[in-house]
Amino acid sequence: MANVTLTINGVQVTVSEGTSILDAARGAGFFIPTLCHDPASPNFGACRICVVEVKGARALVASCSAAATNGMVVETESPAVVEARKTIIELLLANHPADCLTCEKNGDCVLQEYAYRYDVRSSGFEGERHSYPVDDSNPYIIRDMNKCILCGKCVRTCEQVEDRQVINFAYRGFKTKIAPAMDTNLAESDCVSCGRCVAVCPVGALTYKSMAGKGRSYEIEKDQVTCSFCDAGCQFNLNYKAGKVIGVTAKEPGSGRPLCLKGRLGLELLYNEKPVAPMLKKDGAYVEVPWVEALGLEGVLEKLKEREN
Ligand code: FES
Repeated sequence: MANVTLTINGVQVTVSEGTSILDAARGAGFFIPTLCHDPASPNFGACRICVVEVKGARALVASCSAAATNGMVVETESPAVVEARKTIIELLLANHPADCLTCEKNGDCVLQEYAYRYDVRSSGFEGERHSYPVDDSNPYIIRDMNKCILCGKCVRTCEQVEDRQVINFAYRGFKTKIAPAMDTNLAESDCVSCGRCVAVCPVGALTYKSMAGKGRSYEIEKDQVTCSFCDAGCQFNLNYKAGKVIGVTAKEPGSGRPLCLKGRLGLELLYNEKPVAPMLKKDGAYVEVPWVEALGLEGVLEKLKEREN
């Protein structure tokens, strides 16, 4: 593949043809914020926080979905770029709960990080605010759509990485939200609780129920572990606090492999002294089940018993 050479912040950068401006800039060590960009499902271009100034372009360019071209001259932090990013953050904060003190995502929230970086302390925009009930119907995942920034990463990961399409954008305009079909709660949907959507959510809209109240991000250390239940080799994070595993969470996509609840539960049982109670859906409702059933080992157990007798 041919190469292209562009200038980013005065530095000449050579990348292969088709590389996005974002990847070219990040590869050269320059910071560009992103909210909706996900390498596993690129070119969405919805949030626009990744805009950069391209010499000769009529408007700021979304760097995540524009390809670098030969001779391009790019500024990643010009006054116009910074102004645009601040406005986007202000618009997002205009309809975002300011409950960082108690939010599970505090310290690990990308919106919070960017507000800090660009010194946006409050929103200058006043208007109607959402007041959705928090959906905690699923035994593993909490959905707080009041905190959703509509980046769509959960929708794309569910559809393109998990191949499921359980959630999607619903309604229009101010009422737009991410919802399962017919805007039901998660428990009534076809969600299989893989947790991949939680792993990609940049804010506190999707969080793990099992991790609620257990610690701040800066108190938790993560260690990557490979599930050995099947030969897919899915990656999970063991979350340690004070040297003890307090929960197993899905690792953010990288390999593009699907994850499964069985794998996460199995690792909980293996590593967590106080694992979550395994719950499975039966006749449309979640009920607690024995571990052998949650891990799908009844058949193995029966065979072992048969052989012992
Ligand atoms: Fe580029 Fe959202 S990260 S548009």
